[in-house]
Amino acid sequence: MNSLRAAAVALLELPLDALAGVQDALAPSGPQAAHILELWHLMLGICGVVYIAVLVALGIALWRAPRASAQTPPDTEPLHTAEAHLRRWVGGAIALSVILLFVLLIASVRTDRALASLPTADAVEIQLTAHQWWWEATYDASDPGKRFTTANELHIPVGQPVRVALKSQDVIHSFWVPNLHGKKDLIPGHTITTAFRADAPGIYRGQCAEFCGYQHAKMALLVVAGSPQQYADWVARQRQPANAPRSALQQRGQQVFLRGTCPMCHAVLGTDANGESAPDLTHLASRRTLAAATLPNRPEHLAAWIIDPQAIKPGVNMPQNPLPPEALQALLAYLESLT
Ligand code: CUA
Repeated sequence: MNSLRAAAVALLELPLDALAGVQDALAPSGPQAAHILELWHLMLGICGVVYIAVLVALGIALWRAPRASAQTPPDTEPLHTAEAHLRRWVGGAIALSVILLFVLLIASVRTDRALASLPTADAVEIQLTAHQWWWEATYDASDPGKRFTTANELHIPVGQPVRVALKSQDVIHSFWVPNLHGKKDLIPGHTITTAFRADAPGIYRGQCAEFCGYQHAKMALLVVAGSPQQYADWVARQRQPANAPRSALQQRGQQVFLRGTCPMCHAVLGTDANGESAPDLTHLASRRTLAAATLPNRPEHLAAWIIDPQAIKPGVNMPQNPLPPEALQALLAYLESLT
């Protein structure tokens, strides 16, 4: 068990680029992120110039300050000789500060209005529920015939708006995919909506942006933006029930899965497993990452995760599963078949 734990801990040292996806608020791939970047540039420019002006004023004040030595007689003059031009400078600086603050205020309001004006007539509807510490995504939630659920990976079509209804199952989280849109909090008991559009294909990494407990940092997700055809193909695949086991090993793995504790929390469409408190595994093998974009989705990482999730994400709800090697191999074969 100790060597397994060591292996799992070693996985934490993975370089970030082992996990696909860019996360860069300065490289917008859609109109929402572009509006926010414009505001960011304006704020950086104004605050940068003000900062330099304050430092220059401080430097001048220090340079002009009278220097006293041991021989200088004490200055007993009352302080009533205010310099007229000093008053002008201070008054001017106050007026300029007020004007600049109003510029920032107006720019913020304009950005907010621009963000709210994204047309969403033909939007893809996604219901995103935050859990400690993963993301549950339900597509077409209003149409039971088409509904499907996945986790930690959203797929969207390029050029089409997406409207996301945000919910939280436990504490306050925040949904943020910097290349696509601004932060939006998920509040328990409330549904809040946000909308965005990707104008370039790519894999964009999102990160929970509100401290939500021990594993807040390991609560990420990927947004995969592809062509409308790629999106339609993905949706069609996701709506299908899980693949049936095709080999004796996979069959044995399905038994391990269904007879163990897995179905108490996980669902696999087309089997008796319909737990709802953990990620839906119907198409687990089609996803790029495991454990909310913590690990690349490869068999060795899946094995480490199943055996000792606590070593990878201490505090998660999933318990250790000390399976005998034979059962673990079978279970892996089954889970890897869930494409
Ligand atoms: Cu969820 Cu931080």
